[in-house]
Amino acid sequence: MENTGTIRLGDENFEFPIIEGTEGEKALDTRTLRSKSGCITFDEGYGNTGSCLSKITFIDGEKGILRHRGYPIEQLAENSTFLEASFLAIYGELPSEAELTKFRTEVQTHASIHTGMHHHFEGFPSDAHPMAILSAMLNSLGAYYPEMSSNDREQDLAHFDETAALLISKVRTIAAMTYRQKQGLPYVFPDHNRRYAENFLHMMFSEPYNLYSDTSGAAAALDLFLLLHADHEQNCSTSTVRMVASGGANLFASVSAGVCALWGPSHGGANMAVIKMLEDIHASGDDGSRFIQDAKEGKAKLMGFGHRVYKNYDPRAKILGISSEAVLEGLGIDDPLLDIAKHLEKAALEDEYFVQRKLYPNVDFYSGILLKAIGIPVEMFTVMFAIGRMPGWIANWKEIAENPKSRIHRPRQIYTGSTIRDYVQMDER
Ligand code: CMC
Repeated sequence: MENTGTIRLGDENFEFPIIEGTEGEKALDTRTLRSKSGCITFDEGYGNTGSCLSKITFIDGEKGILRHRGYPIEQLAENSTFLEASFLAIYGELPSEAELTKFRTEVQTHASIHTGMHHHFEGFPSDAHPMAILSAMLNSLGAYYPEMSSNDREQDLAHFDETAALLISKVRTIAAMTYRQKQGLPYVFPDHNRRYAENFLHMMFSEPYNLYSDTSGAAAALDLFLLLHADHEQNCSTSTVRMVASGGANLFASVSAGVCALWGPSHGGANMAVIKMLEDIHASGDDGSRFIQDAKEGKAKLMGFGHRVYKNYDPRAKILGISSEAVLEGLGIDDPLLDIAKHLEKAALEDEYFVQRKLYPNVDFYSGILLKAIGIPVEMFTVMFAIGRMPGWIANWKEIAENPKSRIHRPRQIYTGSTIRDYVQMDER
């Protein structure tokens, strides 16, 4: 097979190597294009740009395939837990029983937050968005562990295992404390005897006289939700984490930036937007048909639909669609939003506008219904995504940090502003 490609600029040909991934994906390695020709590539939105070589996650958007370290998401969802999948994403292999026990113990050990940080929560206004709090608190957390957040690569890597477990654990505690603070409720300390997701629900919902008890399978459903969000290759927030990491920043700072990138409605914020959309449709008495028409006319966007990479059903949405229905049934909840979502999905999948543009439900389409059923308030939805995505961000940080050839990420631009002008004095303007 041809392993070089040629770019012709004017009369000149420039030859470049073709890189091939283990799944047959090909890329023209144009890193020397500018030095050879003076020309750069232009790809706003990076739809056609490979920003790194990575061994963590493989997606075939045309076929609706998602695999972590080679393992299909369907198999992980059926057989694994969030912590096991986190270990896999970060360390590259499924853990042995001993390794998983050690990892789980490390995570459990780090569940509490330094009491000094409790005061940070009090400094936020009661209407602060939980994502603003989460990002700020994750960055502040680094200040409590200077030996892990030194920005000295060798030192930060020497503490990597502990930092990774600590962040996976504390992101959950910070999230629960954010909720309690906003509700004006006292913080609930983690219970080391509870599993990861159940411990989170305990910190969210326990009261001294009424400890949280999972009788309905909510913790298992939440664990599945987190597992399905664990990593998703070079999305907006993960690319941000890698970008920040490429400058040499520590893991706390990098994941804190990831939270900010995740916040927007085109990315992680879509799960909140989906529920708002479904509630608006419900309140207006529409069954979804009018909304579909509005989306086709460009007056509205069908949130939870469409994806930059998936041009087929997002496999995570398929799993979440089934599990949200099961959770609602288990909890005896009859949520009209689920009926509207199912109707929207059916109508969109049969509509030429959506079919032509290959717009399918993405992970956010059903996740909000599941979280709502578990009792998570809507404004916490994107925080839940962030808890789930933490291992993916950590794994991607590790890939950059461990690569001695890693270079600072520094894209170029095409300048379209004014050309050189003479300074005009104030009295002449
Ligand atoms: N509803 C209606 N039309 C849509 C939608 C939608 N949700 N998504 C894309 N389109 C149309 C878009 O208007 C465009 O039409 P045309 O060709 O006539 O101009 C065409 O489909 C291609 O869309 P695009 O905006 O070029 O696609 P993109 O790859 O830049 O954007 C997206 C991907 C996910 C930002 C976008 O589909 C979207 O905004 N979806 C709704 C928000 C959402 O659910 N986001 C979560 C994404 S998955 C989780 C995550 O990664 O965080």
